[in-house]
Amino acid sequence: MAHDTCLTGFRLAGVVLAALIVNAACLIWIYSAKPVESPSGASGCLIHDLGKFLRSPSSNSSLFLKASRPSKQTKQIFGELEWEEEGKEMGSMFLTKNRTHIQVTVAGLYVVFVQATFKLPAGNDTRDLRLQLDFTYQERTDQFASAFDTRQLLEEEQDAPLSFSVLVWMEPENRLSVMASHRQRVDYERRPVSTFITIIRCSD
Ligand SMILES: *[C@@H]1O[C@H](CO)[C@@H](O)[C@H](O)[C@H]1NC(C)=O
Ligand SMILES: *[C@@H]1O[C@H](CO)[C@@H](O)[C@H](O)[C@H]1NC(C)=O
Ligand SMILES: *[C@@H]1O[C@H](CO)[C@@H](O)[C@H](O)[C@H]1NC(C)=O
Repeated sequence: MAHDTCLTGFRLAGVVLAALIVNAACLIWIYSAKPVESPSGASGCLIHDLGKFLRSPSSNSSLFLKASRPSKQTKQIFGELEWEEEGKEMGSMFLTKNRTHIQVTVAGLYVVFVQATFKLPAGNDTRDLRLQLDFTYQERTDQFASAFDTRQLLEEEQDAPLSFSVLVWMEPENRLSVMASHRQRVDYERRPVSTFITIIRCSD
């Protein structure tokens, strides 16, 4: 009887071991198959292109802007951010007079990186944060890319950063603008800057 139980135990262990081996083999197969099967995502494409354009001598135009406190008092939670120049190197881009839009003068592929840091108060509910890049061409404005987060408020104040980077093909007169929510929570003061946009022209 005891002998039987022992054997069953051995058999059981064998089955479990076999199952583990099959499992492990499956996992290894999945891991090795994955990079080949998965289509190259947007970010992979971006890194590839970023590397290419950083080596190319044509990337001679760039822009770095810091968010500035809105010039107009507004109750709108979701709205356009305003910018101010941090450096002088503008090249083929400029900030429009009302400081909300960045317009290009030369066609080409542009890498855009946007980051916003929100200062959230203490509390026990949540805040929906949003950062969005809008693309204006001719008379149309498209919502081009965005980042979201629903943050749980804590017992003390907290900082919540959102960021993303995209590649945009732009023609002369095309404009970019950034919408943020909650706009009044954006950190405009901190140094080094924590809310900014940087744009680099890759090529034409
Ligand atoms: C920047 O690059 C463009 C084309 O890639 C070229 O036409 C232009 O002369 C360059 N500007 C400067 C200041 O080097
Ligand atoms: C700011 O200027 C841009 C470009 O001139 C324009 O498209 C946009 O509507 C203006 N925004 C406001 C709020 O006036
Ligand atoms: C959240 O905070 C409010 C005001 O401080 C308090 O009245 C309420 O009981 C709190 N709710 C929970 C679930 O802690």
